[in-house]
Parts: sequence; C-alpha cells; structure tokens
Amino acid sequence: MELIKIEDLCKVYGEGGNRVTALDHVSLTIEKGEFIAIIGSSGSGKSTLLHIIGGVDVPTSGKVYVDGNDVYAQNNEKLAIFRRRQVGLIYQFHNLIPTLNVVENITLPVLMDKRRVNKERLNDLLEMLGLEGRRTHLPNQLSGGQQQRVSIGRALMNAPAVMLADEPTGSLDSRNGREIVDLLKLSNKKYGQTLIIVTHDENIALQADRIISISDGRIVRDERVRP
Ligand SMILES: Nc1ncnc2c1ncn2[C@@H]1O[C@H](COP(=O)(O)OP(=O)(O)OP(=O)(O)O)[C@@H](O)[C@H]1O
Ligand SMILES: [Mg+2]
Repeated sequence: MELIKIEDLCKVYGEGGNRVTALDHVSLTIEKGEFIAIIGSSGSGKSTLLHIIGGVDVPTSGKVYVDGNDVYAQNNEKLAIFRRRQVGLIYQFHNLIPTLNVVENITLPVLMDKRRVNKERLNDLLEMLGLEGRRTHLPNQLSGGQQQRVSIGRALMNAPAVMLADEPTGSLDSRNGREIVDLLKLSNKKYGQTLIIVTHDENIALQADRIISISDGRIVRDERVRP
C-alpha cells in the first residue's frame, strides 16, 4: 500500500545571489512499512526532503501526499495535528525539554494533543527502550544514548505512520548507534511504521529495504536492496 507520494517537488531557499535549489523536481512513492535509507553528500538536500515529508518545511512547488492527504493543502491547525499524530521526527541532537522527566518528555505530544496517555503503550515503549528504571530522571541525569532513546520514545508515542530520522546515530558511539538503529527497525517491523533514515553510515544504509541516493537536490539512484 502506498503511504507517501511526492510529485515534482522543488525547494528553493533564498533569493538573488543567495538562491539555493535544495530540491530539484523530486518524485517518489513510498510504501507503508518500508525502511528507506537516504544517502548523499553534505548539502545535497537530504534533510530538506525529510523536513518536507514531515510537514516542518514548505515546498516551493510540487505536492506531498501522506495517506492520500495533500500535506501542504491543510490549514495550519490541521498541519500541526498531522505533525503530532502521523510523523515522528528524530534528530541527532535530541531536543528534550530539560525540566521534564523521561515519562513527561515521552508523553509530551499526547498531552499537547489533549489526549489521554495510553499507559500500556508507554510501558511497552519504556521497556523496549530500556528506560523503565529511569522514568523520573531528568535529561541531564541520563547518558547521551539514553537521551537519544527518550527522543525516540517521544517520536513513537503517538504510533506515527512515518518515522523520520536525520542522522540519528551521529552523536553516539558505535554500540549505542547500533542499538538505536535496532530499536527503530524493531518498531518499523512491530508496528508496521514506515522508516526513513538519513545517514552517512554505510552499515546503516545496507540494512534498509531501499536506498535512495541524492545529489544536488535530485534522486540519482533508487535501489531496492530487499524485497
Ligand atoms: N534554511 C535554509 N536557508 C537557506 N539555505 C538552506 C536552508 N536549509 C538548507 N539550505 C541549503 O539547501 C541545501 C540542502 O541542505 P540540506 O540541509 O537539505 O542538506 P543535507 O543533504 O541534509 O546535508 P548534510 O549532510 O550536511 O546534513 C544546502 O545547500 C543548504 O545550504
Ligand atoms: Mg542534513
């Protein structure tokens, strides 16, 4: 089943001498449950593509559909709900709120949505992330890898259809990095979520079902590695 459809997407930043074409006529379809790695050199447009899929940047032209909905045809309120419920964004520099503990950070998107916390899902996540013993710890009382796992927990709490990870292992040592990728893969398989990881790490890219290579804002290779 097709989950994401991108049609002739262009993104231009700046004007005049500062004008940069970050995405140049990108078209792409992504199936539900796929695990995709996006690779390419620095400045090629990988993060821009991820942000536009996730509803946090705006295309200059072209369309993005997620689950049949035209993402950028929605008003701001609907777009904010789309971001909270459908998309889990995971960054290298985990954006945790320093004054909130582990459980509060993880459940933040649910509370912002004024919905009830699914305790079972929360417990499941804490167990999967190895954070059960750290429920009331603040971010500065956690290791870097644990902080990264909290931000993954938050991205997964609403069971988003799409997980978007931008160099999720960039600031971690190799063991923690492997653990994070394993967790994302587990969640991808267990909950059938679509997983898109931007990475410079060949070992991560080779674990994906499909590798998309971007150069100068264009897709130059799109290869299925696994059926
Ligand atoms: N907010 C912005 N304003 C102006 N130019 C931008 C902005 N964001 C990105 N760019 C430019 O768009 C191009 C693509 O940037 P992007 O962040 O998508 O690259 P990337 O592939 O993620 O690179 P990296 O591997 O270094 O993270 C770059 O040339 C960058 O300078
Ligand atoms: Mg980037």
